[in-house]
Amino acid sequence: MNDIALTVQQTARPTGFPSAEHFRFVESAVPEPAPGTALVENLLWSVDPYHREMMDGDFALNAPLEGRTLGRVTASRAPSLREGEIVLHRQGWRTHAVVAPEEVRHIPHHEGVPLTAYLSVLGGTGLTAYIGLTRIAELREGQDLFVSGAAGGVGTATGRFARLLGAGRIVGSAGSAEKVRYLTERVGYDAAFDYHDGPVAGLLAEAAPTGIDVFVDNVGGDHLGAAIGALRERGRVVRVGTVSQYNTPAAPPVLFNHADVVEKSLRIEGFLVRDHRARQEELYEFAVPHLRSGALALDETVVEGFERIVEAFLLMLRGGNTGKMLVRAG
Ligand SMILES: NC(=O)c1ccc[n+]([C@@H]2O[C@H](COP(=O)([O-])OP(=O)(O)OC[C@H]3O[C@@H](n4cnc5c(N)ncnc54)[C@H](OP(=O)(O)O)[C@@H]3O)[C@@H](O)[C@H]2O)c1
Repeated sequence: MNDIALTVQQTARPTGFPSAEHFRFVESAVPEPAPGTALVENLLWSVDPYHREMMDGDFALNAPLEGRTLGRVTASRAPSLREGEIVLHRQGWRTHAVVAPEEVRHIPHHEGVPLTAYLSVLGGTGLTAYIGLTRIAELREGQDLFVSGAAGGVGTATGRFARLLGAGRIVGSAGSAEKVRYLTERVGYDAAFDYHDGPVAGLLAEAAPTGIDVFVDNVGGDHLGAAIGALRERGRVVRVGTVSQYNTPAAPPVLFNHADVVEKSLRIEGFLVRDHRARQEELYEFAVPHLRSGALALDETVVEGFERIVEAFLLMLRGGNTGKMLVRAG
């Protein structure tokens, strides 16, 4: 085991897109676990759009940051944390963490399921997609779906889960021609478009000419306005995130026909996955058999080496990932 621990800290608040200058790597000795705690050597990190939101105030400057991480217990002074076991916790952006039992979730061993899956399709990303479809959209068989941010972590999981749940036509939008191809050739989207190719309303009308029943929105802005226009009666908007605005401090308001919401009896509902943690087992029951049978594949971009975690985060904000962006210890 390496005897130096590395921690990333935020050093300044960004305006617009952050850069490497807003972070620093700090070296320290590997911490010792106190009685009732354990030392975890982190193995895999999730970098997420919400970290960009936290950079505006919730991340304290010059202090350790939070993020979802999988690590191995290497020294334990807590009976419920066994040396060698893999746990999920929120002390990310660092190579080592001292954790108490109540801070961790034990990762089950599902034969044949790679570790990365517990931070992607079986982690918060997959749970977001699953809750969005089953609890917020209440998707029913044969219903047609549009997903924005479709080639990202939540977007790919949403497309794959929707297919397994019996959705009808599935349409997605993403930021490049390569991602559009990935969606239709690999993920199982029926149609997809690059949102840079013109006004979203027109592109959506071409991809879903008869309309949609559900819109899963990871992006906000023009996508939201266009989708409200395309929704059929009793359509649902699942507001997952607003990634088009996280680096744009003065984003223009979304324009849509407010009468549509009444006349088509639409429902627009947002949610936070942290309020749905009790469904974690249900997600395993749904997704693990599909992972084992091959009906569900993983969409992940894995950057190798903790020293590249800031680079991976910045890359994700600019669309450098396909599927869930993860960082693996080198
Ligand atoms: N409600 C919840 O509890 C919850 C939980 C998890 C995630 N979320 C939200 O879900 C969304 C997706 O998160 P994720 O973790 O799966 O990240 P992700 O989609 O894997 O990564 C972010 C993606 O955002 C896209 N993007 C960046 N700028 C954009 C813009 N101006 N317009 C459109 N797309 C843009 C990029 O893809 P392109 O190349 O396609 O532009 C990039 O790959 C985010 O809004 C996040 O905040 C919410």
